[in-house]
Amino acid sequence: MCGIIGYIGPKNSIPILINGLKRLEYRGYDSAGISFLNDGKVSVRRCAGKIKELESSIKSEKLKSPIGVGHTRWATHGKPSEENAHPHRAGGIVVVHNGIIENYFELRAGLKKKGHKFTSETDTEVICHLIHSYIKKSKSLEEATKKALKHVDGAYAIGVISESEPDKIIAVKKDSPLVLGIGEGEYFLASDIPAFLKYTRKVIILENDEMAVMTRSGVSISNILKNKPVKKKIMQITWSPTMAEKGGYKHFMMKEIFEQPRAIADTIRGRFSIEKAKVNIEEFSLTESRLKNLKKIFLVACGTSWHAALIGKYMLEDMAQIPCEVDIASEFRYRKPLIPRGSLMIVITQSGETADTLAAQREAKRLGAKVMTICNVVGSTSAREADSVCFTHSGPEIGVASTKAFTTQLTALYLFSIAVAKAKGKLKPKEIKSLFRDLLELPEKVEQALQCNNAILKIARKFHRVSDFLYLGRGINYPIALEGALKLKEISYIHAEGYPAGEMKHGPIALIDKDLPVLALAPDSNVLEKILSNMEEVKSRGGQLIAVATEGNSKIQSRASHVVLMPKTNNYLSPIIFSIPLHLLAYHISVLRKCNVDQPRNLAKSVTVE
Ligand code: M6R
Repeated sequence: MCGIIGYIGPKNSIPILINGLKRLEYRGYDSAGISFLNDGKVSVRRCAGKIKELESSIKSEKLKSPIGVGHTRWATHGKPSEENAHPHRAGGIVVVHNGIIENYFELRAGLKKKGHKFTSETDTEVICHLIHSYIKKSKSLEEATKKALKHVDGAYAIGVISESEPDKIIAVKKDSPLVLGIGEGEYFLASDIPAFLKYTRKVIILENDEMAVMTRSGVSISNILKNKPVKKKIMQITWSPTMAEKGGYKHFMMKEIFEQPRAIADTIRGRFSIEKAKVNIEEFSLTESRLKNLKKIFLVACGTSWHAALIGKYMLEDMAQIPCEVDIASEFRYRKPLIPRGSLMIVITQSGETADTLAAQREAKRLGAKVMTICNVVGSTSAREADSVCFTHSGPEIGVASTKAFTTQLTALYLFSIAVAKAKGKLKPKEIKSLFRDLLELPEKVEQALQCNNAILKIARKFHRVSDFLYLGRGINYPIALEGALKLKEISYIHAEGYPAGEMKHGPIALIDKDLPVLALAPDSNVLEKILSNMEEVKSRGGQLIAVATEGNSKIQSRASHVVLMPKTNNYLSPIIFSIPLHLLAYHISVLRKCNVDQPRNLAKSVTVE
């Protein structure tokens, strides 16, 4: 996830671009850049780091230009550095891009053969070179851009400027957001509305495959697949600038919960082939023979990422039949673990900077294990030090409570488990294809699961004053009980415990009375009957039961006073779906208790000290 901005009009574009980028910094902040045109020539200024570093690096130049584009980056391909920062340039063509180009590797190889010289490791640079290769043979910049995009698979929102037509910006969108701002004789493009809200409240939302051609005299929009002009509605935005930054939500946590369909789609984009029944493990610097020879897997992490590790064990042992051990990183680093030859350690970390996780990662390396990290932040320490990396591509997570980072970690673990199972011959191509089909449906299923928001709000209203909460789960959803409890503690300061439901009779059952809400996770699975009996045990002792079950479950209504139903998916993906109501419950309770949702007391987003 990155942020792009563009301006054409009578004013000096430079402060408008910088100000717009600051408003988009929540979308990415590891490097930034702008490009602008003067006397028909493009100039580019970029640097690693935040927008304020870019701002101070250009301050003394007193730059002026009526047309320009800018970018704030959240790295996906290539580390955060000046060379990888956008805008990218090929000859007189400049591009800013948000999204992921799936076939960039092949495109780049083809362009290199034709003599194109690349200066970055990014996927974006191929778009510049493609447009550049067409510009001389085309009537216009828009025609060259259209021809170039015909070769591109993946997601993109792009802004293009060119020396060949110095009075024009081209904007195109496919599966990444892009909005236009309509001012008085001036026009804006951006990844999100807050970027230009200071200048105009009139907005056009571009849809997939729409191209906008912006000049000083207006904007024309067409569908590039149908080659036809499109009439668009201009919307009037009433949000305040801070609300707009959070996409209209009150808190980043809620915005990030609702971003999950997009985030998961980005995690899986270009990473497997149904026809070949294959995960594209080359991207993670892995080979089938390495996976085939694996003897044991250690999964290590902290907090919510540790819950993902626990679920990863269920997936890996079940699909790939490989023994797994899961550790909390702060325990692993001091427990003198025995690591047999042929072991892989999987480190799971959103930030890639958690001190305990890094220490465990280094300890595993010292003991001879190969390390793979499942990480959200490109260029982070964990990613730099690991032998293999699978980036989750969920975009920056700003709320301290981890939500979309968690479900994208689970998505990555699902893909990795299939890859190991295939290498070890534990899954047949037919079974792999079916697992991929379920994965393709997942973003839509998550969208459906999010519809429980109002039902969850009602439950939160009833229970937000309690002092304790118990979460019960079994099997692959037991870690979701831990996750629900952690989230509630973290952002609402209510004491909560997560338990494997079968363990309840060994102690926690003594806590049950009419004042204790008990949330039971009851997805359709081989342990459903077991969890239903555990619910009876709670009910008969007067506990207040909330059940989260799979839609179509006819036995659940009579067991619980509150029932929330989730769409059906396969067992491995069910923790992703079932975490959604629990994250929403913690969120609503936190809001009702007037807690600081995005920055809970005593906590930091990234715990970089021991
Ligand atoms: O960045 P990491 O994934 O390594 O962070 C690990 C934990 O600190 C983190 O998951 C923490 O538990 C969250 N705040 C939970 O919502």
